[in-house]
Amino acid sequence: MRWFFLILTLFAVMLAVGYGARGTKFSKPPFELFPDMDRQYKVKYQKPSEFFEDGSGARRPVVGTIPMGYQAPLNKKDTPVGSEYYRSGLFGDFYGDGFPEEVKVDAALLDHGRRRFQIYCTPCHGESGNGQGVVAKYWLIPPTANLVDPRVKALPDGQIFWTITHGKGLMGPYSGAVPIADRWAITAYVRALQGASGN
Ligand code: HEC
Repeated sequence: MRWFFLILTLFAVMLAVGYGARGTKFSKPPFELFPDMDRQYKVKYQKPSEFFEDGSGARRPVVGTIPMGYQAPLNKKDTPVGSEYYRSGLFGDFYGDGFPEEVKVDAALLDHGRRRFQIYCTPCHGESGNGQGVVAKYWLIPPTANLVDPRVKALPDGQIFWTITHGKGLMGPYSGAVPIADRWAITAYVRALQGASGN
């Protein structure tokens, strides 16, 4: 009988604990046996943080890196000089054609463009620009663009420059790695490849 009352009392206590305080408002936070992850250290936007030495919660990008999705970062070699066309490849909302006054197309420029092209573009577009670079062996869908295709040949110079600056589809932007002058040199070299292709 003693056990019966003991179990009954225990049961009553459990019931009271389970249902007792439901819906009631308290002015003090409840006692937490297991705090789980209710409160954790986190950085709120625009708020300071003690975690970092400089006391700032927001972090600056590491020098020389480009955050993903960040469009057309300025190259540190580029100064804000030159015409709008030279800097963007655009006239207003339209791609320009021809090379800007700042760019002198000669053998030296083409040679420079060739070397830059071989560093930055050949892995995907191939040495001759036909889209059969090493990447094409492993990367099939979607295919890398064939730069000597008549379609790309028909694109205005400004669009080639713009594509190198901002990227297109799976091709990333090269404005951070390749300064403006080099991008025009590469554009000139792409034109030379197209001319040599016979397409
Ligand atoms: C990581 C691989 C990769 C690299 C490196 C790369 N590209 Fe591309 N490029 C692509 C792909 C993929 C496309 C097709 C994009 C699409 O049409 O969606 C493309 C497309 C193009 C086009 C065609 C754009 C059009 O409108 O059809 C041009 C021009 C071009 N790239 C130039 C360059 C130049 C110049 C470089 C070197 C600075 C370069 N690419 C570096 C992958 C690459």
